[in-house]
This record gives sequence, structure tokens and C-alpha cells, in this order.
Amino acid sequence: MQTTTEITLPIDADRLIAELTTLSQFTDAEPSPDGTAVTRVVFTADDLRARAWLKGLAQAESFAVREDAVGNTFFRWAGSQPDLPAVATGSHIDAIPHAGMYDGTVGVLGGLEAMRALKRSGFQPRRSIELVLLTSEEPTRFGIGCLGSRLMSGTLDPTRADGLIDATEKKLAEVRTAAGFTGTLESARLAPCHYHAWVELHIEQGPLLEREGLPIGIVTGIAAPAGYRFTIEGFGGHAGALLMPDRKDALCAAAELILSIERHTLATGAIDTVATVGTCDVHPGAVNSVPSRVILQLDIRDTDPTRRESVMQAVRADIAELQTRRKVKISETLVNADEPAMCSPHIVELIDQVCREHGLTAKRMVSRAYHDSLFMARLAPIAMIFIPCRGGVSHRPDEFAKPEDISLGTSVLASALGKLAVE
Ligand code: GLV
Ligand code: MN
Ligand code: MN
Repeated sequence: MQTTTEITLPIDADRLIAELTTLSQFTDAEPSPDGTAVTRVVFTADDLRARAWLKGLAQAESFAVREDAVGNTFFRWAGSQPDLPAVATGSHIDAIPHAGMYDGTVGVLGGLEAMRALKRSGFQPRRSIELVLLTSEEPTRFGIGCLGSRLMSGTLDPTRADGLIDATEKKLAEVRTAAGFTGTLESARLAPCHYHAWVELHIEQGPLLEREGLPIGIVTGIAAPAGYRFTIEGFGGHAGALLMPDRKDALCAAAELILSIERHTLATGAIDTVATVGTCDVHPGAVNSVPSRVILQLDIRDTDPTRRESVMQAVRADIAELQTRRKVKISETLVNADEPAMCSPHIVELIDQVCREHGLTAKRMVSRAYHDSLFMARLAPIAMIFIPCRGGVSHRPDEFAKPEDISLGTSVLASALGKLAVE
């Protein structure tokens, strides 16, 4: 692994790692033998406690705090010309069930430490520098990811957003109000020129940096995600008495649908086309009852949205055949179908320059995971800084990033924010 002796900004790595560890303790997950399991779903008690703790850290630095109607939280260090569009950084602190402690959190606490390091060095920003904690990057609770950044960028209709329901049929409108975030969701929207630049620090969530022994990745573009929900309706009944020739088993049809999705995704031959059916709700969900209804959630992504759509077309042709053959009804609901985002060549080059100044070789790369940066790109020129994570593992309790890589990524972020703040 490449190291450097030219880090100029004083990153307090011990404090940053201690804060990441403290944050990981705001969790709903049972202790896990395979690492620190973190479950922190948006607007649960743990999420709210974590937010309050983070606000305390930012207030200790005298950063001004603002919260919007969906809970996006802004920590602003005022520049000498506070009316200029600010430079922003940030990420998310929500975590999918049974996840690790680095996804998103490195960008939030690393962003905070980057600002503190700039402050400690005596740096005076011309543009304000703002840390943003974005609400519900993960789709766990309301079925759609990046709620906060979608609303900020005008990508999600506020009325539709407020009507989104969680697994207990509670609407976002109700849940956010109970969490103390009131006002109309329209008010969360920011003007396209609101920020001068946006830079997000994140673990790679893939294996390439570690494999190549490189400490920093600079993201040049983010693949386009789409989400679909399929409802398969068959005919239920007694598992002993319902004769096999008479069955319309919704789960058997769902199994064929899942394999059709996998087959057509692989058939593209493209490494960038990925599809996952990550949930399968079976009704009534009893061992001695033939499944009458199944709901599947599909996550499909590609750097090329046209190719992504061609997979969906092929799957739809299979669905038509499957409905007739298995005498089930399959309905498709589109959750989201997003465009890819390109990073700003200027910010990418600026980060590369910072890396060179630090004596580092950076890898330019595509992000196959999505991030709030996908939507921040609609508000500002963006880029992302990736650091390696062990084995490329993410969304698992054994997710791990080395303290020295976190520190280095934070240092690169700090330098990049510093340069952007004087432009
Ligand atoms: C973000 O968590 C993603 O699923 O890419
Ligand atoms: Mn994630
Ligand atoms: Mn993330």
C-alpha cells in the first residue's frame, strides 16, 4: 500500500476512528460474531440519537446547524464571503439491516474531521464549507434510496414522497413529523446553483483499490440504479389437499422470475450490468400453505440505462409467458429509474492534483454503488473520493476500512475542500 509523508493537514485519526466506533453503537442490531453489526434505519430511535450526537459534535465547532423538512442536516462553517455558493461534503448515517460501520459514516465523520482539520490549520475559507447529513440514502424503510438528496434536487415529487409507506403502513409524512421534521417537502428543494461544488468521501464497497494496492479512488461517474416491485398473485390453499395439477403457486412463479432476471442480466455480458432480487415476501408465509401472493423487490443497475432497460424488456417477455403457463398474475411497479451521473472533470482533476501533492497515485473509477452524489450532481458539479475496504466487502457486519486509509481519504478531502473554498 502506498503511503505518503506529505500530508499537510493535521487529521486527528484517533478521534475520527473513536467517533466512527461511537456512531456504530447507535444500532438496533443484535451483537454479531462476524463484526460490528449496525442496523440504523431512518427515523428510528437509534437514528435520532445518532443525529443528536452528531449535532453536538458540530456545534462544539460552532458550525451553524440547519435541518430541513425531511431531516437533511446542514453544518455550515461560514466563509469570508458567505453569500457565494458554498462548497459541500457529506453522506449518510443510516445503515441497512445487519450492515457495517463505515458505509456513509466515513463521509459524514470524515467530512466533519476535514473541516476541523482545515480550521485547526488556521485556514480561512472564502466560500462557506458545509457538511450535509443526507436522510435515508438506504431504501430500507420507504423502499426508495436517497430520499434526502432526491428531494433536495427535485428528483422526487414531494407529494409522492410524503405518501411513501413503511412496512407498518406508516406514511413518511407521519414518521418525519413524529421525528420532529415538519414543513412541506417542497421546502427541502435547493436551487441548482446552490452549491459551488460537492465532494463525497466513501468506502469503495468493491475490491479494486485493495487489489491494486492503491489508497485513493477518484470517481468519474456513478452507475444508474432502478428499482421495481413485482406482485405475483396465484391461488393459495392447503399444502396437503390442494392437488398439484390444480396449483397456481405464486412462489414457484416468483422463483422462475428471479432466474429470468439473472439470466438476462448475465446475457448482456457486461460487467456493469447487475441485478438483485433482495426481498421476497410470501403470503401467507406458512409451511403448510401454498403461497398465494409474493412480492419481490428488484434492484437493477447499469452504467448504460439503455442496456438496463433492454434487460427489463427481456424479463417482461418472460413474464408474459410465465403468466400464461403458470396461470398467475404478475404486476410490475416502477419505484425509480435513474440516469447515471458524471463527475466534474474540474473537481476530478483537482482531487488528482491533491493526491499528487500528497505523493499518492489515485485510480479513476466508476462507482457501481449509488450514492447521494448521484442526485447532488443535479445541484452542483460533483466528485467522489473512494478509499479501499477489506475484500471489497460492504453491507455486511465485517465491512472494514483501515484507520490509515480513512485518515488519508479525509486528508485528501480536506485539501480538496480547501482548494474549492478559495475558488
Ligand atoms: C447504496 O447503499 C447502494 O445500494 O448502492
Ligand atoms: Mn449502503
Ligand atoms: Mn453509502
